Amino acid sequence: MPALIPRPTQASFPPGHFTLDHRTTLRLGPGTEPAADLLRTLLAPATGLPLRPSPDGPFALTLDPASTGLGDEGYALTVTPDAVLLRAAHPTGLLRGIQTIRQLLPAQALSGTPQPATDWLLPCAEITDVPRHRWRGAMLDVARHFQPAAYLHRYVDLLALHKINVFHLHLTDDQGWRMPVAAYPKLTEIGGHRAETQQGPDGTGPYDGTPHGGSYTRTELAELVRYAAERGVSVLPEIEMPGHVRAALAAYPSLGNSPEAGLDVWTRWGVCDTVLGVHDEALDFCRTVLEEVMDLFPSPYIHIGGEECPTAEWTRSASARQRVAAEGLPHAQALHGWFLGRIGDFLVRNGRRPVAWAETGAELPLDFTLMTWRDAAHTLAAARRGHLVVNAHHRTTYLDYARSAAPDEPSGQPGNVVDLRTVHGHDPVPAEADAEAAGRVLGTQAQLWTEFVTTPEHIEYLTYPRLCALADRSWSAATDWAEFRSRLDEHTARLDTLGVPRRHP
Ligand code: ACM
Repeated sequence: MPALIPRPTQASFPPGHFTLDHRTTLRLGPGTEPAADLLRTLLAPATGLPLRPSPDGPFALTLDPASTGLGDEGYALTVTPDAVLLRAAHPTGLLRGIQTIRQLLPAQALSGTPQPATDWLLPCAEITDVPRHRWRGAMLDVARHFQPAAYLHRYVDLLALHKINVFHLHLTDDQGWRMPVAAYPKLTEIGGHRAETQQGPDGTGPYDGTPHGGSYTRTELAELVRYAAERGVSVLPEIEMPGHVRAALAAYPSLGNSPEAGLDVWTRWGVCDTVLGVHDEALDFCRTVLEEVMDLFPSPYIHIGGEECPTAEWTRSASARQRVAAEGLPHAQALHGWFLGRIGDFLVRNGRRPVAWAETGAELPLDFTLMTWRDAAHTLAAARRGHLVVNAHHRTTYLDYARSAAPDEPSGQPGNVVDLRTVHGHDPVPAEADAEAAGRVLGTQAQLWTEFVTTPEHIEYLTYPRLCALADRSWSAATDWAEFRSRLDEHTARLDTLGVPRRHP
């Protein structure tokens, strides 16, 4: 049985195979052209196959909106010696099926260079495949260390291979602002660059003395959104507020609580005390930035960060105390939920769904989708209260933690180890959840914070194969570790072909 990751819902593999060669043509039903284009694009570098359209081609792509049970992302694939039929109810389902076809071919099909000596045999198969969870994500922090747009395309390609459907892009933080905003050009001009970088964990260690910076253009981000959409991946933008904004305050000090302070883009790690003010100028700033975000990113969800926001500055600020009084809040700490609630309302009025990291989650309105990261108990608590939830618990989904405790393993984010088995053992739905609460758990996602991760090779060493395990558990209901391991052994040949490093680079 071919080793597919993620594991399909139902699959059988009768003997025999279909051979793809230069004569193979595609029979394309209405609305299937984008999927056919993706199939050609993905197979062309290694195979050179033209896969031309033809009304009587043996390889058929069909959309059948009435076909029940396949949902938005499911597909059915039948391969016999004479024919291939890929069928879905929705175009995204075809895109998922194409990734399965890629995995069914010899691993060389994933190569970026011509592989002329290979026979492109597709094993006979009968597959019906529907995801268990509708949110299967991966977060990349490009604020701490910037990565060029071209790399993000490769990153998306690797996600799509694993049927990961949300690419969460962490665009702003204390150490860098990466998204251009026409109304506030200094966000990237000043906020996109820091003078140097601390080498050790929170508040310790030497500085490297080397400037670091970078930001995307609007065109690059629009192109990324389009590229990802062609692969069935939604780009979820995250703009942090009201904390994690030091880079913005370096560019526009009046957005903060002490404009005279002369802040730099942060060069160290940890939680920064400087946060946005709660005056009208700061709220207007957030709304203007988010208008530009909504203009670029069609994602129904918009992430506004929200975590790790020290409130000491608000306690000391006269304008914040006025805000507490005017809003009838009990204390300055309550400004955190108040602030996020106002911005959440703004997003809802604009037809989007606000997403935030859950500190506990109890302070946020129910129209927030929560990413529960701190405490495993928060997922159940948030779902029971009525939030939609993405389970992002740090002990099972944070890929910046080391892959193992072995002495030769490079040190990651300190404090924890998240090994492959731990990721695979992570069920997005808490065991105690009743059907109603379980229904509010959208799924799960991996996070890669990049304080100590500077290169694409290091990103991929930390991401794979752990993201394979998360993809498997979020797509499939299968839980058998040994069975996953044996599939992963075969899948590793695909990752090798793609140049994903097995060893620390
Ligand atoms: C987080 O780890 N700051 C959500």
